Amino acid sequence: MGRYFLIISGLFFSFFQSPVSDAQNKKFPGISQQKKAWHTIKTMVNLPVISPFKKRYSWVQLAGHTGNFKAADSGKILKRFSENEKECFERLMKDPLRSCVPCFHGVVERDGESYIQLDDLLTDFEGPSVMDCKMGIRTYLEEELTKAREKPKLRKDMYKKMIEVDPLAPTAEENAQHAVTKPRYMQWRETISSSANLGFRIEGIKKADGTCNTNFKTTKTQEQVLQVFAEFIEGNTTILKKYLKRLQEINVILESSDFFKRHEVVGSSLLFVHDGSGNANVWLIDFGKTTLLPDGQTLDHRIPWQEGNREDGYLLGLDNLIGILESITER
Ligand SMILES: Nc1ncnc2c1ncn2[C@@H]1O[C@H](COP(=O)(O)OP(=O)(O)O)[C@@H](O)[C@H]1O
Ligand SMILES: *[C@@H]1O[C@H](CO)[C@@H](O)[C@H](O)[C@H]1NC(C)=O
Ligand SMILES: [Mg+2]
Repeated sequence: MGRYFLIISGLFFSFFQSPVSDAQNKKFPGISQQKKAWHTIKTMVNLPVISPFKKRYSWVQLAGHTGNFKAADSGKILKRFSENEKECFERLMKDPLRSCVPCFHGVVERDGESYIQLDDLLTDFEGPSVMDCKMGIRTYLEEELTKAREKPKLRKDMYKKMIEVDPLAPTAEENAQHAVTKPRYMQWRETISSSANLGFRIEGIKKADGTCNTNFKTTKTQEQVLQVFAEFIEGNTTILKKYLKRLQEINVILESSDFFKRHEVVGSSLLFVHDGSGNANVWLIDFGKTTLLPDGQTLDHRIPWQEGNREDGYLLGLDNLIGILESITER
């Protein structure tokens, strides 16, 4: 029975949260109005069958594509198969980073579709608060840039999303086409959020009370990000210190990781999870776009990106993230 809730909660977030948030974003742009974007799902997922399981099955999907996830055996989740992500997880399981990612349990088939099976990171939490931070100064692959240049695919959906946030953003040519290319849209998203200046951005937050916000598209400055973090941890320094300790540990492991050296890490997130019992942890998730470099090539993850060097700015983002959390402890 619990399985149903797991699926339902994921879908409810995806279908009912985003459209509302987008509409509100249009009406109330800016950080001061961000509170209006919080919604509760408790009333929507009001099926009698779930009530005995409310506490245990609180899985949520904060970001990513709708329908990418499926319920699995207890303590595990299924993510839609990609050969690239599977190979990343296989390599990760043999790397020091293993302790910083969900454990990978191979590929399984469900209803004729393939999935990768991963540990559910929310299992050990009671009514968790969850935050997804997308890491890096760049959120698209160099390969996508090359492709878009050779064979530009015009995206009307992305043009629409662009003018919803900023009607003045498209160029005259884009206005005439009513479309933009994907890398152009992704680059624009980086500049309106904190990706370009801080090397990471907040994708979504679910709080313990069940409210969820995926409307941080224009959360950009250090101060704005700090405010969102402070609200996420509700001023609890115990939780904050645990997050900081773990991020510093992740930093050390990343520096020692062969996997990290040899991959362009783009579109990957840090997933922050804590609960009322004082349990708090962070993991690296989403390797769908993480790409192995040619033999012998390594990345610094800190030096600026120039087309061709494949740098992703991951460690810049982590430095800034740690700096911001430290400055909260000093307040
Ligand atoms: N192993 C996991 N345990 C718990 N939650 C997860 C896990 N993997 C992903 N999620 C949730 O699903 C969301 C999307 O996951 P992600 O791997 O980034 O998918 P996508 O490739 O569609 O972006 C995350 O923001 C998080 O809320
Ligand atoms: C912080 O969280 C811990 C664990 O839930 C709790 O024991 C403590 O009282 C909280 N502190 C504050 C200041 O709320
Ligand atoms: Mg993702």
